[in-house]
Amino acid sequence: MAFPENFITELVERSDIVDVVSGYVRLSKRSGSNLFGLCPFHSEKTPSFSVSPDKQIYHCFGCGKGGGVINFIMEIENLSFPEAVELLARRAGMPLPEQTDRVQDRKRERMLSLNKEAARFFYEQLAAPSGQPGRDYLLRRQIGRRTAVNFGIGFAPDSWDSLKTAMGAKGFSDFELLDAGLVRRGKNGGFYDTFRNRLMFPVIDVRGNVIGFSGRILGDGEPKYMNSPETLVFNKSRNLFALNLAKKSKSGYIILSEGNIDVVSLHQAGFDSAVASLGTSLTPEQARLLSRYTSQVIIAYDNDGAGLKASQRAIGILEKLDLRVKVLRMTGAKDPDEFIKNKGPEAFRKLLEESENQIDYRLRAVTDKYDLSRDEEKVEFLREATDLVAKLPGPVERQVYALRVSALAGVSGDVVSAEVERRRKKLLNRALKSDEREQSRPERQLQPTERELRYADPASAAAEEGLVRLLYLEPALGKTEDLPQAEEFSSPALGRIYAAIRGKIDRDAAVSTAALAEELSQSEMSLLVSLLQKPELLSLGEKTLRDYIRKIRDQKELASGSVDLRALAGKLRERKGYEG
Ligand code: GTP
Ligand code: MN
Repeated sequence: MAFPENFITELVERSDIVDVVSGYVRLSKRSGSNLFGLCPFHSEKTPSFSVSPDKQIYHCFGCGKGGGVINFIMEIENLSFPEAVELLARRAGMPLPEQTDRVQDRKRERMLSLNKEAARFFYEQLAAPSGQPGRDYLLRRQIGRRTAVNFGIGFAPDSWDSLKTAMGAKGFSDFELLDAGLVRRGKNGGFYDTFRNRLMFPVIDVRGNVIGFSGRILGDGEPKYMNSPETLVFNKSRNLFALNLAKKSKSGYIILSEGNIDVVSLHQAGFDSAVASLGTSLTPEQARLLSRYTSQVIIAYDNDGAGLKASQRAIGILEKLDLRVKVLRMTGAKDPDEFIKNKGPEAFRKLLEESENQIDYRLRAVTDKYDLSRDEEKVEFLREATDLVAKLPGPVERQVYALRVSALAGVSGDVVSAEVERRRKKLLNRALKSDEREQSRPERQLQPTERELRYADPASAAAEEGLVRLLYLEPALGKTEDLPQAEEFSSPALGRIYAAIRGKIDRDAAVSTAALAEELSQSEMSLLVSLLQKPELLSLGEKTLRDYIRKIRDQKELASGSVDLRALAGKLRERKGYEG
């Protein structure tokens, strides 16, 4: 850990979670000792975000997010672990300690300087004689020299080891290149350059660090783009391509597009506030990052089915952060790059000015779906459109758009308004009911909220959860003999949590959310906190522990299929007799 343990312990003691969370969420008391408020991480009408002053943790029964005070700050301020610790230390008036173990920090610094050297290398290769294919491609895409320099665009030569050799000469080891995703490992154990014969876009964060690369193939072919993998310094869901440039824009809004080439092309045409997500759909973290630099986002995604769907999703995410969202209506071109090439920057500026707010945009999407001259389609249209209007939060907004719908369908305004209010009541009732259900069953989470953490073997996972919970609450049990290895767990996520807790116990370190916050990912931390909500019978500690272990091993035998079922049944019977 980069900070001494006692520093973190004291920091957490001096950062009461209720105080800290109250800076962001209005909390109120309901029943029991927990406080509740509207979850800052997803949108809701009734509070399912709980904070426990006793356990010093937060947990949302709606979206599943949870953790200790450090996680909360990491999540809501979009900060890394050390940055969150710094913020809390400042808040608590504690001076930062001399950092004792700087291994991780040094690794980060090395990787950043490697990335910078690699970016410089690619950049130089573009100008070198062998960079001709790259220069030809830029010419073909009409990307000028100044733009290329502005973005630090480079070229990865068509070679298996040119980067590897050049970085080796600068003192970087093959393993450092591997960690940074710049080389890959071949079957024979050798290393080869990841990016070959590609146009290289460095991904630069808002502080100016080169954190990764995006490489586009020259021309057609698969895969069109190769991006750096997630590394110590590259987190795709928390960064945006070109935000380092866009944050300096004076335009007052940010243009969100899909492709690197679109972004480059937009900047070249004078739209210097364009960014793109890094090959994934927009994440809540990216939206939060955007909200630090702007209050208005204009979505300019590709003009196809995928782009349309992605726009709808992005609207939902951005709206939750109170960002004003508009959507560009592009016709006659597949993406902003093509539009600008065909019609010029002035036409694009006009598009920006005419971009619709998201209600208009959605309403039009519904209108376009139906042929309103046919009665049966009109009925469908009214159903869908009134549903949309019913979801608008403001009564004035609802009235205005109800009238719009009535004009579109040629139906009286009163009828539409009445239908809107009827649907609204229904929606509210439904939301209320489902929220009540969630509230009355805080232990409802049989499965983690995050899809990639879903349990393959729920029976074993239940025991694994139990084991994790017991060790967390009663670390002394970690010295029990014959504890399972993390690899014996059916759920890799629970295995990682388990391994982290045992690591702390083995080193006689404190087991707490704060101590684990650096090692575990946010989703693992959420999982840990959610399973801590379930009751555990501590009084039966050791016996319960044994039961869990047995269950995990039995399930594993069962799952492996190699077991003689009859023998297992016999064993189970024996055990039962023994216990009963
Ligand atoms: P063109 O206009 O076709 O030159 O490309 P573009 O830069 O506009 O990209 P496009 O709209 O095709 O794709 C949008 C984004 O998705 C890209 O910037 C990449 O980040 C990502 N992407 C596209 N194709 C691939 C791929 O094959 N693999 C991966 N990992 N990401 C891709
Ligand atoms: Mn494109």
